[in-house]
Amino acid sequence: MRWAALVGGTGTNLGALIAAEAPIALVVSHKPGVGALDVAAAAGIERLVLDPRAYPDRDRYDAALLERLRAHGIEALVLAGFLRILTPPVVRAYVGRALNVHPSLLPAFQGLHAVRRALRYGVKVTGVTVHLLDEGLDSGPIVFQEAVAVRPDDTEDSLTERLHAIEHRLLPKAVRLLDQERLIVAGRRVHIRED
Ligand code: GRF
Repeated sequence: MRWAALVGGTGTNLGALIAAEAPIALVVSHKPGVGALDVAAAAGIERLVLDPRAYPDRDRYDAALLERLRAHGIEALVLAGFLRILTPPVVRAYVGRALNVHPSLLPAFQGLHAVRRALRYGVKVTGVTVHLLDEGLDSGPIVFQEAVAVRPDDTEDSLTERLHAIEHRLLPKAVRLLDQERLIVAGRRVHIRED
């Protein structure tokens, strides 16, 4: 499948996907000048910046995004630091073929600043979730989850670092399974078909 990675941050997950030879044909960032674009450039992957400030509203932004994805023949999406909610037309175009990674054990701490909010809440365990996209916020069927113990002296940075290491392992694995059409969705449950 031809994949697009949707990004907007430092690009460590994109780097992990590239290192795992995920078939990323296009990288789309919602922010200019982010590290993820440099990671894409270094790997010789085509880049596209779609800045929301250039569009009057979310619907028009997503229409432009969908048009570009289609023009590039993109068949699947991996969201890795793309901090925007996608509207139903985009989600429906890629239903069952779009993955997101989130730094919490969903459904806890959906949305922005999940690591900071988990620490402030005082949780003893948090983790990483890789899930399929649906029309809600970080709410689609779960592919992988892995827990991490919070240490008494953890800061947002130290905890993020441990979570990232897990993300970098789980996200390429999920992309590979979806690419091989081995993720079987039954309602909210996602099963992995063995080879
Ligand atoms: C990751 O922590 C991911 O869970 C969240 O955004 C962050 C992206 O980091 N969705 P990076 O750009 O891959 O380094």
